[in-house]
Amino acid sequence: MTGTIPRDHDERDHDEAAFPDDLIPWQRPLRAMFPIITGHPDLVYLDSAATAQKPQAVLQAVETYLTTANANAGRGTYPWANASTELVERTREQIKSFLSDPDPERSTVHFTSGTTEGLRTVAQDWLPAFLTDGDEIVVPFADHQANLIPWLDARKVLEAQGIGIRIRELPYQTSSGDYDPDALARAVGPRTRFVAATHVHHVYGADMNVQRIRAAVGPDVVICLDAAQSMGHLPVSVAGLDVDFVAFSGHKALALPGSGAVWARQTRGPRFVPGGWSGTPNTTGIASLAAALDWLREAGTDRIERWTTALALRLTDGLRHLGAYEILGCQRSLALDSRIQHRCGIVTFRHRGIGASDLGFILFSHGFMVRTDGHCQGSAGEKTSSVRVSTHVYNTPEEIDRLLAVLATLE
Ligand code: ALA
Repeated sequence: MTGTIPRDHDERDHDEAAFPDDLIPWQRPLRAMFPIITGHPDLVYLDSAATAQKPQAVLQAVETYLTTANANAGRGTYPWANASTELVERTREQIKSFLSDPDPERSTVHFTSGTTEGLRTVAQDWLPAFLTDGDEIVVPFADHQANLIPWLDARKVLEAQGIGIRIRELPYQTSSGDYDPDALARAVGPRTRFVAATHVHHVYGADMNVQRIRAAVGPDVVICLDAAQSMGHLPVSVAGLDVDFVAFSGHKALALPGSGAVWARQTRGPRFVPGGWSGTPNTTGIASLAAALDWLREAGTDRIERWTTALALRLTDGLRHLGAYEILGCQRSLALDSRIQHRCGIVTFRHRGIGASDLGFILFSHGFMVRTDGHCQGSAGEKTSSVRVSTHVYNTPEEIDRLLAVLATLE
């Protein structure tokens, strides 16, 4: 995305913000609920955008399920089978409620192994039936490739059937790095049927302001949201965002790997009925997801967002004083109350003289676990690898200060 996302080091949208100290008494007991965190006091986990750690309640829910009710769902009639079936159905409704679904009677939830499978399922099992020759779709070229490749593949599938569709790039704002609703409105025509968007950018940490897309594209266009980096990190409201599909991963939302879902509104276009024999559902993953969503609701995703945004702000403010580092993406407007844009709990940067992998090894020698590579970005993304720091509710301002102190020694 070099050349698209701004590299404006001068403009600032906030004073160096005070940390939200009111959240400290809230956060401390929550951090204590993560056994892997409390069990490793010398390590600092800063890779929650890759996968998040699990609270005891999630671990306990999995053990309880496996030791009291483990059976195949939707098949038998004995109590454990019934309990497993109820777990699956109850979790569907729980997901709708978690997403503030305004019309749960008409929507559906399809369980997947995660966001990648979810988006691919929409692209393979629904999109081809929706499009006709000459239609257009709009997709993000510089987001995670899981939100690009399935749409490109869908075009190939349609081409093989003699149906030609046009793919346009979802435009980004050069001033702030989120999507550009005005450019999108200009790009949309009578044949535009579908937009794929990302809630929070997995490299730049930007809230992409997807709530502006509906007004830009009009009432009939279907919007599919990649919520991999927002689910469990901030409130995700399908009512507020007015989207038609939401795909997310359980493992980034405090649940087990291999769990996830696609929520489908089912009011625009053909019904979303993923094809094929669905096989045995991942009941263990679904049990973990149910417990994780309960935990997140109790903790409050609005407070988790405030906390992780403040951590990211602390890190970017610190990095700005260190000349050896280049922050990727938007340099300004990082506060939650920014008038222009805000960054969620993800900060990605490069050292001007030390490669990303080497920097990752150095950071781990001090106990910090971060992601270091090209971050699975789409075709218009960064070409050089970088270090990504991503936070969750268990991280602390002291951890960020210690990280900055180590980074300062490498100036
Ligand atoms: N998609 C995950 C990430 O961004 C793995 O790190």
